[in-house]
Amino acid sequence: MKKVVEKSKQESVNIKDRQYKIVIDNVRKSYNIKSQNRQKDEEFLALDNFSLKVKKGEFITVVGPSGCGKSTFLDILAGLSRPTSGKVYIDGKLITGPALDRGIILQGYALFPWRTVEKNIEFGLEIKGMTKDLKQQISKKFIDLVGLNGFENRYPHELSGGMKQRVAIARALAYDPEVLLMDEPFAAVDAQTRESLQEELLNIWEKTNKTIVFITHSIEEAVFLADRVVVMSTNPGRIKEIINIKLPRPRINAQIRTSQEFNSNRNRIWELLHGDTDKIQVEASV
Ligand SMILES: Nc1ncnc2c1ncn2[C@@H]1O[C@H](COP(=O)(O)OP(=O)(O)OP(=O)(O)O)[C@@H](O)[C@H]1O
Ligand SMILES: [Mg+2]
Repeated sequence: MKKVVEKSKQESVNIKDRQYKIVIDNVRKSYNIKSQNRQKDEEFLALDNFSLKVKKGEFITVVGPSGCGKSTFLDILAGLSRPTSGKVYIDGKLITGPALDRGIILQGYALFPWRTVEKNIEFGLEIKGMTKDLKQQISKKFIDLVGLNGFENRYPHELSGGMKQRVAIARALAYDPEVLLMDEPFAAVDAQTRESLQEELLNIWEKTNKTIVFITHSIEEAVFLADRVVVMSTNPGRIKEIINIKLPRPRINAQIRTSQEFNSNRNRIWELLHGDTDKIQVEASV
């Protein structure tokens, strides 16, 4: 009991930032690594000076070169890892660990292979202690939403990559987190399935008003989905630029991808990322 009271006294965000769903304030993350030739520890700075404010219901995508700290950032948001310095708040409260207010969807689906589609989706509901009837009712709703009717009793190995991804999305949505954190969730599916999953995700987001932080290596995907695209640079991982995407919603693939606005955003982000690549190549050749 005492512990709970102490926790509630912990730091909360500035009054002016209370309107934001997520506030990331000057986060820095370093890892201790072994030096290559000597056996001593060195500090490796993965994230530095990382600040971002996300509004409730906003869709944020994050792009950046491999190793720039995207997953490090998402793990910190998820509460799976602690920043070395700086603070992260959700709903004005300091994040101190993982919680059911955040749904996490990692690359590679991370489904439980011994559970059927239905039982995978019910996982978070079990943790919440729901009755059997309520669990079934909710899992049915999300099976409908992601179009997996008729596959309730299949096991993950009996599903295609795109279907597994939908189960992962349904599982994260079923326990109704307000924030969805997605780390390259569509990286392993074919281009056609990927485009339909993007549209489905936008559909779900529009219906449920979730706040989404979505990491991707695809510039097109980042632009198509986002309200804002965070472009990162590497060594150490920092925000290079944040691009506002003013494309109309609802977004329909065929119309959006051929528009002038889509192409100019895509080109701008490509230039920002390419600039980074040039820099890395120059440094490597010195
Ligand atoms: N536990 C760890 N210990 C030491 N270094 C780490 C650890 N986790 C990540 N790193 C390093 O931190 C940097 C950022 O890693 P991170 O996984 O966040 O990159 P990323 O942007 O997600 O890359 P990718 O696009 O390839 O997934 C990398 O250089 C990585 O080697
Ligand atoms: Mg990563």
